[in-house]
Amino acid sequence: MKVFTSVNQLGDLNQALKEAFEIKKNPFGNQELGKNKTALLVFFNNSLRTRLSTQKAAMNLGMNVIVLDVNQGAWKLETERGVIMDGDKSEHLLEAIPVMGCYCDVIGVRSFAQFKSKEDDYNEVILNQFIKYSGRPVFSMEAATRHPLQTLADIITIEEHKTKARPKVVMTWAPHPKALPQAVPNSFAEGMDMAGYDFVIANPEGYDLAPEFTKGVTVLHNQDEALEGADFVYAKNWASYEQYGQVLSQDRSWTVTSEKMALTNDAFFMHCLPVRRNMIVSDDVIEGPRSLVIPEAANRVISAQTVLKRMLESL
Ligand code: CP
Repeated sequence: MKVFTSVNQLGDLNQALKEAFEIKKNPFGNQELGKNKTALLVFFNNSLRTRLSTQKAAMNLGMNVIVLDVNQGAWKLETERGVIMDGDKSEHLLEAIPVMGCYCDVIGVRSFAQFKSKEDDYNEVILNQFIKYSGRPVFSMEAATRHPLQTLADIITIEEHKTKARPKVVMTWAPHPKALPQAVPNSFAEGMDMAGYDFVIANPEGYDLAPEFTKGVTVLHNQDEALEGADFVYAKNWASYEQYGQVLSQDRSWTVTSEKMALTNDAFFMHCLPVRRNMIVSDDVIEGPRSLVIPEAANRVISAQTVLKRMLESL
């Protein structure tokens, strides 16, 4: 595997899950693969889970790891070509990327949507420059439009907890004070399509995701109706796609509470974290016995290790 920017690049999902569960059973079984190999993890944005779980995955594979926080300690980077660099940015991404490639064997990149231009965000301008100019296999650690390592961890978690072949999974929008990207919900929708679950999205009017991610999916603007009979509730906030990057609502009636969970089939609660308590989800639901947020975060090591192992096999 040379590029991982979408769960679709996993190919056969059952095969990927088989590899993931083998890794979970025997996390140190492939240390020879990573010996004398270096993973460079480049962060343009903050992270707790991705940073730690991807480092742990690389270490489990016997790799060395370098972490670069672009905005803390590195030169400020210009990302657009043609700019006269007479401001505060000292280095251009077009030199910085091939230089980074000199110091590693694989590169992970975290680069969120900037909400300045829908076109630039949906064309994944920064991630694609790493793919084009680094000369190394590149994997996304959440980009503008997708978060595939999170989605793979989510699917692993559902597979571990489902009690029927085709559970009903409801992804519901929930309120948040800031504009958040659509990467997690877009990617989750792709993953649900691959997994073939009974998948429903609930969001207020004005929050429909990009049509390329919701083809054939039931999208309801009534959360209570969507939650009926759900086996898994996946909560997430995202900013409007139609009115790109705008926060159109902070309607707290969409917060996932125990009253909302009572509409479900005793559903498990999921969220990728970090989560704003009592905006997205009430304390009692996230702390309750059906909350999967911690096992989901733990599975981030397994998803990262599955992808890194495939990248090492391709070197
Ligand atoms: N879920 C997730 O990607 O968490 P971080 O932003 O902390 O990495």
